[in-house]
Amino acid sequence: MEFTLTTTHSREIETPAFAMLCFSGEPPAEQTAGGVLKEMFASGEFTGKANETAVVHRPVGMKAQRLLLVGCGERAKFTPAQMRTAGGVMARALQARSIQQAAVGLDGLTNQPEMLRALTEGLITGGFEPDQYKTEKKNGGKLLERVEISCIEITPEMEAALERARITGEAQNWTRALVNEPGNVLTPRLLAERARAMAEESGLECEILDEARMRQLGFRTLLGVAQGSAEPPVMIVLRYTPEQASSEDHLALVGKGVTFDTGGISIKPSDGMEKMKYDMAGAAAVLGAMRALARLKPPVKVTAFAPCVENMPGAKAQRPGDIVKTFQGKTVEVLNTDAEGRLILADALTYAAREGCTHLVDAATLTGAIAVALGHLYAGAFSNHEAWQQRVLEAAKSAGERIWPFPMDAEYSELLKSAFADLANIGGRWGGSISAAKFLEEFVEGKPWVHLDIAGVAWLEEAKPWMAKGPTGFPVRTLVELAAGWIRSA
Ligand code: BES
Ligand code: MN
Ligand code: ZN
Repeated sequence: MEFTLTTTHSREIETPAFAMLCFSGEPPAEQTAGGVLKEMFASGEFTGKANETAVVHRPVGMKAQRLLLVGCGERAKFTPAQMRTAGGVMARALQARSIQQAAVGLDGLTNQPEMLRALTEGLITGGFEPDQYKTEKKNGGKLLERVEISCIEITPEMEAALERARITGEAQNWTRALVNEPGNVLTPRLLAERARAMAEESGLECEILDEARMRQLGFRTLLGVAQGSAEPPVMIVLRYTPEQASSEDHLALVGKGVTFDTGGISIKPSDGMEKMKYDMAGAAAVLGAMRALARLKPPVKVTAFAPCVENMPGAKAQRPGDIVKTFQGKTVEVLNTDAEGRLILADALTYAAREGCTHLVDAATLTGAIAVALGHLYAGAFSNHEAWQQRVLEAAKSAGERIWPFPMDAEYSELLKSAFADLANIGGRWGGSISAAKFLEEFVEGKPWVHLDIAGVAWLEEAKPWMAKGPTGFPVRTLVELAAGWIRSA
């Protein structure tokens, strides 16, 4: 999607469709579109409620062929988050009508870079359709191609906001396309290929640790999960090194990359199992974030680690009761082979810490329990370091992604006791997301670390007016914001 900023007045823009943001309780001026809007408001046909749309053809007094009204709700409650949604609604309303070029007026919100950024991100993410495998694309595959955004003044801040949004939105969609790849296509090796190709075109350093290398290093816990599959595991490592770093800080982004999770021998029920292709959403998100960071070039060193495996119940699969020794050294009793994410992340987190990373964040579709706790709106955050967690939460807030912190009291670790090893890989029914996080904490070598459990938010069950059903690309924006806004840590 291409964007241009213009100062041309909305009435003067020649375009197939001009989108106007409308607020509830604020009927447009008498003369707009020859009074038609006033009538529509008066009759209740269009009220300006959020997500509402309407189209007026050949609006009087405008050069646009159509006027698209996009409801935004109450102006007083209109935040960048609402603007992002409005952008998504606009893109989807246009695409539903096969309109590929449009303009939009920022009007009173002009010269607010935050609003421009949110609108642009909303347009890009709203325009995404997970239709890689559809022979006949929706609306003949006519996607929104060009958007002109009219504002009062084009400042460097506005241009920077637009560029930032473009890069971030595209990275988010790149992640979504990857997450949507089915398990038969996207094996760990193919995921590594995709990462390598992306790294090459983005100018990132890429290292793929293969099975032999991981055996040599001692990633036994990761290999234990992989052994039930005919597909070999990989660890993807992407490195971004700034030309001039502002500090000695080294950020690690670690993402769970289970390309398909059957549960292994502790096999999952077949109902809904098809969705377990999204169990690599964490890996896809850290890779997508790296794609954006390579373009935004923040002054901080960032390395992504994506441990990738397929969790299958093959003849060589690990059994419940197996005891494995982690890369870190502690032994783990695998009481449930379906709690595999924490096993592969344990080795990856230790590896990241030992590679010299000073700040760790991981993203993982780790537990079903997180959706029981938070539903599908918020991801959970778990940390061993209050200040670092605060920075991640603030980045999420600015990026418009919802993340809620959980307690991590020491007593929760008691849930992970094993009779025969240092740790069990499951903590029982209650507080399942917390015990999973406490398990991970054992492997971060005391480094400041935040774990994001994204199992409830990485997949959208039903299409929304602003977003297609399927992968959401959560938490690409938070990770980008975190690194792009890097300030030297104390
Ligand atoms: N990948 C799943 C978690 C998950 C569940 C992601 C639903 C997305 C939607 C994870 O590997 C898993 O199976 N977790 C188990 C843990 C349990 C065995 C302790 C779970 O949540 O049931
Ligand atoms: Mn599992
Ligand atoms: Zn899993």
